[in-house]
Amino acid sequence: VHQVDNEYDYLFKIVLISDSGVGKSNILSRFTCNEFCLESKSTIGVEFATRTLQFGTALQIEGKTIKAQIWDTAGQERWLRELRDHADSNIAIMMVGNKSDLNQLRSVAEEDGQALAEKKGLSFLETSALEAL
Ligand code: GTP
Ligand code: MG
Repeated sequence: VHQVDNEYDYLFKIVLISDSGVGKSNILSRFTCNEFCLESKSTIGVEFATRTLQFGTALQIEGKTIKAQIWDTAGQERWLRELRDHADSNIAIMMVGNKSDLNQLRSVAEEDGQALAEKKGLSFLETSALEAL
């Protein structure tokens, strides 16, 4: 079936927040256009990109088209508190540890990240924009 670009069943709005330099912009560019930049410039203001994808098996939303609209912020603010104060109470918040490719330089053990996420009531994963993990 021909799928017109702006047709989707669900629109997921995703906001990336962290301190500067964590890798938000590269996570976004890896996910939306499979690009990574070693010398990316710090984001000014807010940018967004989208990717439309189809979910496969083992999900309730099987066969549905999801459009992910991902907002990339400038990492100068401490946002978890503000997020909880201002956003809808049913949002999902995930803590992501990026740059897992630099495993030998890690300053936070994966278990410690996991434990912090649990304490704050967040889901957790580690990723690498560089290695596309
Ligand atoms: P701000 O826009 O300032 O908030 O930063 P940001 O969180 O968007 O970080 P950005 O994506 O610009 O990445 C900062 C630096 O980290 C760049 O030099 C990236 O190449 C590097 N970087 C991002 N992701 C990874 C990763 O997964 N592994 C490694 N090794 N470097 C990464
Ligand atoms: Mg950025």
